[in-house]
Amino acid sequence: MTTHHADVVVVGSGVAGLAAALELVREEGDLRVLVLTRGALGGQSASSLAQGGVAAALGPSDSPALHARDTELAGNGLARPDLVRTLTHEGPERVRELIRMGVRFDRTQSGEISLGLEGAHSRHRVLHARGDRTGAEVTRALTSAVRAAPRIRVLEQMEALELERRGDGVQGLLARHRGEESLHHIRAPAILLATGGPGRAFLRTTSPPGLDGDGLAMAARAGARLADLEFVQFHPTALDTRADPLPLVTEALRGAGARLVDAAGRSVVDPHDGGDLAPRDRVARSLWLRIRAGTSVFLDAREALGDRIADAFPGVYALCRRHGVDPRSQPIPVTPAAHYHMGGIEVDGEGRSRVPGLWAVGEVAASGLHGANRLASNSLLEGLVFGPRAARSMLEAFATLAPPSHSPPERVRSDALRAEDFARPLPPDKVLRIRTLLWDRVGVVREESGLVSALEELDAMEGELPKAVPLPSRNLLLVARLITRAALLREESLGSHFRSDFPNRHAGVPRRSFQTLSPEGVQDGSAFPSTSASPALISSH
Ligand code: SIN
Repeated sequence: MTTHHADVVVVGSGVAGLAAALELVREEGDLRVLVLTRGALGGQSASSLAQGGVAAALGPSDSPALHARDTELAGNGLARPDLVRTLTHEGPERVRELIRMGVRFDRTQSGEISLGLEGAHSRHRVLHARGDRTGAEVTRALTSAVRAAPRIRVLEQMEALELERRGDGVQGLLARHRGEESLHHIRAPAILLATGGPGRAFLRTTSPPGLDGDGLAMAARAGARLADLEFVQFHPTALDTRADPLPLVTEALRGAGARLVDAAGRSVVDPHDGGDLAPRDRVARSLWLRIRAGTSVFLDAREALGDRIADAFPGVYALCRRHGVDPRSQPIPVTPAAHYHMGGIEVDGEGRSRVPGLWAVGEVAASGLHGANRLASNSLLEGLVFGPRAARSMLEAFATLAPPSHSPPERVRSDALRAEDFARPLPPDKVLRIRTLLWDRVGVVREESGLVSALEELDAMEGELPKAVPLPSRNLLLVARLITRAALLREESLGSHFRSDFPNRHAGVPRRSFQTLSPEGVQDGSAFPSTSASPALISSH
């Protein structure tokens, strides 16, 4: 087993992880930063696939306060106003930084930054690049900056397996090189998880392979508290094909005038409920109900864009053509698909979890920023704003964290550990069953009997798995069970969580939900959103 020493480890190389890594080395110093990523740097992240863009209040009639209001409204009363304020007020400067780094956002003919419109935004405020290849462009710039930073060491093709606990904190992790099948022990007093969401737990998803909720599962096993797991965002418009993941058809198309229609060209959304540009949860629900009733739904861009779609949205155009649809002359068949998780590892506004030494940021984290439903194009912005905030918090805490002990922990010292033991995946039929169960019963519309039967089957599956299946290979199953349990416990409908048996929300201020894994099982809880600066317990140990 190879041992690596670092001061800070960033796991994951989407926008949040890359932005954090750069902030860690912004000042002169000798801090050793290690970035661990399961594919090529920046390559397999959901960020790199993001189409729509980065929301920021840059337009003449816009303001951070308006952006904050839209974010809070989309979050259905559960978003933390202090974090929303941070996001929307710091956002414009983070975007200007990207421009200074060489990100080429699209501009109008007069040279102004072109600002698109998306669902539930009251202003045009979504920056985009190369039409609908915004994530790829932002990731390109951040990736080259990380590669050029002398104090950042990057280990690619590395899959994080398990956090190494010491006392009540974490002090390292175990990882597997996916090509060489070698095990690596990374020793560091501060770890930032930026591993993305659990979209792969759902049969129909826009999440790329690898987004199995690994960070969430590892953190849960290390004692972190998880929050808001029931809030899964379903994007209304993925291309309805058999592909996996489903290609996204960006919401920006609706911002440019494309309409959601049935086969006869009739609108399928309620004009009195925000129409085509209502918040994502509401549009996804309208489409889901139509599809369940046997109606096919389409995004029709013919009138609004016609031939211009090829230049304005080259990514969507190419994807459609690859799947046999010509959006210049045909409506695009669409379906809702799991897209983003508002739930995750409970952290404060600086990314600190309750486990000393462990931070989290981006989709794997749940600070309460997005509440019950994320506003479109706020996720890249979240990475750009909160990645560096987590990095600064780690730098501040670094001095107080004990250096990793020199004696390796028992399980890492064990000669019996072999990389191939961790390469034993869940059988494919089980993976398919988990994903089907979640899609059918824990999807856009949920109800008690479906949730109960899904949970019983998932729990039984866990009980029947052969002992030889290692814990990291069970991550998807663990996360599926926790999400289902959270969805069962919330007996109301709020934002992205819709219960047909409890179609209304509870009166008053909504509560966040929490889960913690312990040897006795799962502990559940709930609380009003905290606006306190930090729930975290950073201590030297
Ligand atoms: C989109 O382009 O529709 C997706 C952007 C996002 O997830 O916010």
